Amino acid sequence: MSTIERLLEVHDLRTYFDTKHGIVQSVDGVSFGIDKGGCLGVVGESGSGKSVTALSIMRLIQTPPGRFASGTIRFCGEDLLAKPERAMRKIRGKDISMIFQEPMTSLNPVFTIGNQITEAIRLHNDVTLAQARQRAIEVLDLVGIADSGRLIDQYPHHLSGGMRQRVMIAMALSCSPKLLIADEPTTALDVTIQAQILDLLRKLRSEVDAAIMLVTHDLGVIAEVVDEVLVMYAGKVVEHARVQTLFDAPQHPYTVGLIDSIPKIDETRYRLKTIEGTVPNPTDFPPGCRFSTRCPHARDICRGEEPPLLKVGEHHLAACWKNTDFRPVRQPEAWGAANVS
Ligand SMILES: Nc1ncnc2c1ncn2[C@@H]1O[C@H](COP(=O)(O)OP(=O)(O)O)[C@@H](O)[C@H]1O
Ligand SMILES: [Mg+2]
Repeated sequence: MSTIERLLEVHDLRTYFDTKHGIVQSVDGVSFGIDKGGCLGVVGESGSGKSVTALSIMRLIQTPPGRFASGTIRFCGEDLLAKPERAMRKIRGKDISMIFQEPMTSLNPVFTIGNQITEAIRLHNDVTLAQARQRAIEVLDLVGIADSGRLIDQYPHHLSGGMRQRVMIAMALSCSPKLLIADEPTTALDVTIQAQILDLLRKLRSEVDAAIMLVTHDLGVIAEVVDEVLVMYAGKVVEHARVQTLFDAPQHPYTVGLIDSIPKIDETRYRLKTIEGTVPNPTDFPPGCRFSTRCPHARDICRGEEPPLLKVGEHHLAACWKNTDFRPVRQPEAWGAANVS
């Protein structure tokens, strides 16, 4: 068995939505794991199923129209999909917390920052108001807010977008979660602030004992923060590798496209390539590889049969027919399990 403790193990997750246009297969057979204290980036263009994956872990998928068509989500060994809602409420915000793209919509405008953080703390911990306030100041300090003693009594609209996102991170960390899920935490912020927030997440990794799942459409922004990357396309994992491996030797044409579309200053010119086309409509995915309609290397087999997720190197999985020479893993799933020999 692996010596590193697996904090989260998602296996064959399928989250579907029943709509009047048909079944939307937002997440379709996704497997991955996160180690205790680890940091996983989940990337893919808009519509690839990243948020639905994150919300499934939090069990925040509304049923109906959503449903879990298959899979398990084991957190600290227990299957979250089997838990009653009451038990999930204890886990959410305490053991697993989540921050979203737009910090303003997550903060209540009529309560002070202090009210909101202390309420989150008191919901999960048996502490006095004074103790909760003390903890709130502590976490505001932790996320780099100067003058936290004053800021705590301010209202969200007094704060800039970057500060609000820091407050959200502080709130998310206030109960010392084991897993912090950040869904596009910097997308709504301007570039300088984006860099500061990512810097903060990187710094927090060494200071708090939480694992981080960082969801983004922008592979460029997470390279320096995460250890490994899960690339999603049209509800599927197309590649999973350590971040360095992913940049040095990407195996899936979609990953190559994502890397190429990171803006680069190339000698004297500014270069920006994009992947042509868009993520296909989830009620009407093409047969075979879902990327085949946009893939420059697509062959007949790609349009006819779905490529399995194969082991293509150490700690490296990819789902592309060009890799069929490689040895298949016993079960197409996250490398943690695949590596156990
Ligand atoms: N409540 C819902 N009802 C129907 N379709 C949904 C719902 N939520 C998400 N989807 C669809 O699932 C797919 C994946 O969505 P999402 O996970 O939000 O993508 P991402 O976060 O990668 O941009 C999209 O096609 C989206 O339209
Ligand atoms: Mg999203």
